[in-house]
Amino acid sequence: MNFTEQDVLKALSHVDDPDLHKDLVTLNMVRDIVVNGNALSFSVYLTTPACPLKDMIKNACLTAISHFIGDHVVVNINMTADVTADKKTNAALPNVRNIIAVGSGKGGVGKSTIAAALATTLSKMGANVGILDADIYGPSIPILFGVQNHQIEMEVVEGRELMKPVMAGEIKLFSIGFLSNPNEAVVWRGPMISKALQQFITGVNWGQLDYLIIDLPPGTGDIQLTLAQTLPISGAVIVTTPQNVAIADARKACAMFNMQPINIPILGIVENMSYFIPEDAPDKKYFIFGKGGAQQLAEQFKSQVLGSLPISVELMNDSDQGKMYTTAALENFTEIAQQLARQLAINNSLN
Ligand SMILES: Nc1ncnc2c1ncn2[C@@H]1O[C@H](COP(=O)(O)OP(=O)(O)OP(=O)(O)O)[C@@H](O)[C@H]1O
Ligand SMILES: [Mg+2]
Repeated sequence: MNFTEQDVLKALSHVDDPDLHKDLVTLNMVRDIVVNGNALSFSVYLTTPACPLKDMIKNACLTAISHFIGDHVVVNINMTADVTADKKTNAALPNVRNIIAVGSGKGGVGKSTIAAALATTLSKMGANVGILDADIYGPSIPILFGVQNHQIEMEVVEGRELMKPVMAGEIKLFSIGFLSNPNEAVVWRGPMISKALQQFITGVNWGQLDYLIIDLPPGTGDIQLTLAQTLPISGAVIVTTPQNVAIADARKACAMFNMQPINIPILGIVENMSYFIPEDAPDKKYFIFGKGGAQQLAEQFKSQVLGSLPISVELMNDSDQGKMYTTAALENFTEIAQQLARQLAINNSLN
């Protein structure tokens, strides 16, 4: 029995994106349909390559084709992605679809490690990713990727002289540490840093980015406030450890992002160093620093816990040695990256 492209679209209009609550055809996710006798191929463009619902949506498409057209059809689905943009970010920076700020109230909770790991995970999933290290106190992104001795080069793009980002695999990175004399920079005030960062955002040849991740300096002072006000940030990820002192500082960070007129959505909270699993007793899980604080914080700010990460000697050693791109500890970040990308896509669909 013959069928047409229209039949395919009609069948797939019965498949909803569970997060966006609309069907795939209305969302313009179904493209490149080719019908050849009994053979059908098409692409589904998800809102992010990190979509945790990829397999579920693919299966729903197969079921719909079989049900509405027939089980004689030989279907080949190419699951791909066209990352949706935050309108605010994209209006300010036409090459950048989303900016994710990674912040915390307290220092040393693992913000840079998590920013680097999320960037790497999203990049390996197929997204175009950049990281901007905005931490003047301790620019650690170059160390995490082992590029701390890199010299910045310039290149001319369409008549403009731009700084070349440093590559870590497919990730483009840039750090305030590449340029500033650190002893000088630490006395900078918010507006100066904000101005420098604006220049990094527009003066670096980032190319097309699905996600630009900004590693913010710790704290909720003048500097963080100016950055939150001046950069077109799509959403924030707050990192905390389980101790009450860390949660109290993370609460201040959430309150800052929530403040009017800043109003930056809190995409979620990552609880770092949540528990410890001994190597010689992998069935045991010790909650050394306490439990439950991140969840309470998420509820207070109507957000979510994106995930909890174990204390990992491997992560610590590999990041210290600049092996962030290849560390096996990245496996702990898959779900967090998926949940983060998913929340951004949901927010983008509502704007
Ligand atoms: N889950 C973890 N397990 C073990 N060590 C970790 C973990 N997360 C981070 N670390 C280690 O903790 C230290 C601090 O991490 P990191 O530099 O990422 O924190 P930060 O919040 O960015 O700090 P700062 O406030 O100074 O910017 C690093 O040595 C890092 O390797
Ligand atoms: Mg840091």
